[in-house]
Amino acid sequence: MICLGVESTAHTFSIGLVRELKDKIEIIANEKDVFTTEKGGMIPNEVAEHHKRVCDDVLKKALTKANIKLNEIDVISWSQGPGLDPALLAGRDFAVKLAKESNKPLLGVNHCVSHLEIGRTTGAKDPVLLYASGANTQIIAYEAGKYRIFGETLDQGIGNILDSFGRYMGLGFPAGPKIEQLAKNGKNLIELPYNVKGMDVNFGGILTKCKQLFDKKLDVSDICYSLQETIFAMLVEVSERAMAHTGKDELVLGGGVACNSRLKEMCRIMCEERGAKYFCPENQFLVDNGGMIAFLGLIEYKAGVKTDTNILPHWRTDQVNVTWR
Ligand code: ATP
Ligand code: FE2
Repeated sequence: MICLGVESTAHTFSIGLVRELKDKIEIIANEKDVFTTEKGGMIPNEVAEHHKRVCDDVLKKALTKANIKLNEIDVISWSQGPGLDPALLAGRDFAVKLAKESNKPLLGVNHCVSHLEIGRTTGAKDPVLLYASGANTQIIAYEAGKYRIFGETLDQGIGNILDSFGRYMGLGFPAGPKIEQLAKNGKNLIELPYNVKGMDVNFGGILTKCKQLFDKKLDVSDICYSLQETIFAMLVEVSERAMAHTGKDELVLGGGVACNSRLKEMCRIMCEERGAKYFCPENQFLVDNGGMIAFLGLIEYKAGVKTDTNILPHWRTDQVNVTWR
């Protein structure tokens, strides 16, 4: 069985293809085109225009990569939410058109849950999940039919904070990878607000402080270094507490910010110190990608999940009934 997945919740338009083999699901293509800017941020309508412009090309590339034709596909899945309305609509319309043309069943999946499920391909059995992306920052574990959120950001997602600070410095979108490079040259740790409230975190005060330090012309590398050390330490603290509370001894990373090698290192050290196992998928499956949408689509289709074709811009991780586990 082959599933084609369409991802378009935000900056990335991507098509993934997965094939079910005897006892495993193989990702046979994961092609994408990402909306980026030199200076400004992400404007939703411009993002949607980008997706409409590149969709046919990305599809062609994915089919070529997997060496299959559209009529060999058994089912199509798409990212139904959460995300930006115009971007979601662009992906939905493309998926609906594809399903009509090929006469295949269509299934909407939750973008956040796909970030989590793809993490299980690493071999983790029952992990705590640290999901750190642009719009989302959540500490999650599976319990009784749902992915339960143990802690989360009370304001913005961690990636949005990095992108906002990057935009303030004139870095363009996405800024996370650029801040990571700048942070490598940082030497002095500047004290920033450290905002952990129980199992939740918030970043707004830290962002304001970093902007002030930038205006005062402090060394940019030092600010980026201090920003990363502080916000990543907050995530590691709540992840560790979730592991202690739930008694789970595996940690899986997910979401685009998990591409950051310093965050990976801090999580790995925390796991080593408490004798837990640390897992992290390849970077191509951490950032938004069609592969994870196809992967979850195939699993849900086999479990008999059916959906309508309305976009769900505010669909939360813990609203999804996990009937396939
Ligand atoms: P979601 O809807 O899941 O929140 P998203 O739209 O934010 O997804 P992702 O691709 O999962 O998309 O994550 C993108 C974010 O990851 C951006 O904020 C980007 O700056 C950040 N990012 C990417 N690479 C790095 C890196 N090396 N270090 C820090 N942040 C990174
Ligand atoms: Fe994402």
